[in-house]
Amino acid sequence: MAEILRLENINYSYIDGGYERQILKDLSYSFEEGRFYTVLGPSGSGKTTLLSIIAGLDTANSGEIYFNGQNVKELGLYRYRRNAISIVFQAYNLISYLTAVENVLLAMSETDNKLPADRKTVAYNLLSRFGIVRSKADRMVNQLSGGEQQRVAIARSLASNVNLIFADEPTGNLDTATEKEIIAIFKELSHDFGKTIIVVTHSDTVSQMSDQRVLLKDGKLHTL
Ligand SMILES: Nc1ncnc2c1ncn2[C@@H]1O[C@H](COP(=O)(O)OP(=O)(O)O)[C@@H](O)[C@H]1O
Ligand SMILES: [Mg+2]
Repeated sequence: MAEILRLENINYSYIDGGYERQILKDLSYSFEEGRFYTVLGPSGSGKTTLLSIIAGLDTANSGEIYFNGQNVKELGLYRYRRNAISIVFQAYNLISYLTAVENVLLAMSETDNKLPADRKTVAYNLLSRFGIVRSKADRMVNQLSGGEQQRVAIARSLASNVNLIFADEPTGNLDTATEKEIIAIFKELSHDFGKTIIVVTHSDTVSQMSDQRVLLKDGKLHTL
């Protein structure tokens, strides 16, 4: 399978009480197109830091990230974030004063990727595909349940037509039954939509449903 994302010799450290703490050490890894990965590791091992770096929200002290063979520095972080990736957060991070469909439409306005002309129809269809029917799509998102808000966030992550979707503990606020439903959706995104999904989790239920489990340990990623 084709490689979509490659990390090369990523280093990340910070100063804590005069001591340097290195969280990521010469970390290299290659992610393939259309696969669903879970990244595991104990609390404090650097999972969120790693996700922030590969999502272009934070920068490493050194190392390179290649998207489809192109160095992200060359592509530019702005374009990488707008056109290559989406993020699904544990706390959903939807715009609370907008409806579900408005949240999806907003994401469509924040990319340069080619999108279908009838955006509103596409937005409603995306939401309904993930279980948000029309009447719910027109509600303010803070009137929806946690599981429903996460479905909206997933629909939003697809709206900009990117190939890489990252999620940090996306089921951390959900019960086990809803967790399974949400993870089944991520699986569908990779297998039916061809997206590459990288989910950080400490849930065994989640990791057992993924194609590839990867462990973050001693600053490096290890294939399990
Ligand atoms: N810039 C920073 N300054 C201080 N502490 C940091 C910084 N970046 C990360 N950390 C610390 O590094 C550790 C790893 O963080 P994190 O990536 O959130 O781990 P995880 O998501 O695996 O629990 C945590 O203890 C966090 O507080
Ligand atoms: Mg974390």
